[in-house]
Amino acid sequence: MDLQNIFRNNQQWIREKVHTDPAYFKELSARHQPEILYIGCADSRVSAEEMMGVRPGEVFVHRNIANMVPNTDLSSMSVIHFAVEHLRVKHIIVCGHYYCNGVKSAMQSADLGILNPWLRNIRDVYRIHKTELNSIADEEERYKRLVELNVQEQCINVMKTPEVQKAFNTKTLFLHGWVFDIQSGKLIDLKIDFDKIMENIREIYRIE
Ligand code: CO
Repeated sequence: MDLQNIFRNNQQWIREKVHTDPAYFKELSARHQPEILYIGCADSRVSAEEMMGVRPGEVFVHRNIANMVPNTDLSSMSVIHFAVEHLRVKHIIVCGHYYCNGVKSAMQSADLGILNPWLRNIRDVYRIHKTELNSIADEEERYKRLVELNVQEQCINVMKTPEVQKAFNTKTLFLHGWVFDIQSGKLIDLKIDFDKIMENIREIYRIE
């Protein structure tokens, strides 16, 4: 890819935006009030804004390998804190995707260096849901289910934070677990029952 193209694209984009609305960038720089925090995979095929059809300013985005929310990860913890306490977002979405190489790599018997501790969290997801996953004979289907269960477990990690628990209790924040299917382009709501999950884990993780 010719990187000069990127700068040409940028100039073209500015022209288009200003043509439609001369004050576009002035207004864009005036405030930052997204209502949604999106936590997704860094995979280049899963373009958060384009796939959701949202404009700049609408979604606060955090992406890393395999859309993880490890409890000791300063980056994702800071993003959640900032989004909930300062931006006061109304929704947090954890979005995984089928054919996630991060999820697949996590399950292979290979030393992946610094990726080992990062991806080990996915092995933990597998361990928690081992019975269900091992009952799926088809390997592709098993990985797809692991992607879904990883989304669910990362949502639970989001729920472990005091900021989220506080906002969740006052019904000012809603959680969503989604999956993007690269093969069809479809965004799927896993319709996870977070009230039920919270009910089950409250006695263990309750902070607020
Ligand atoms: Co991925």
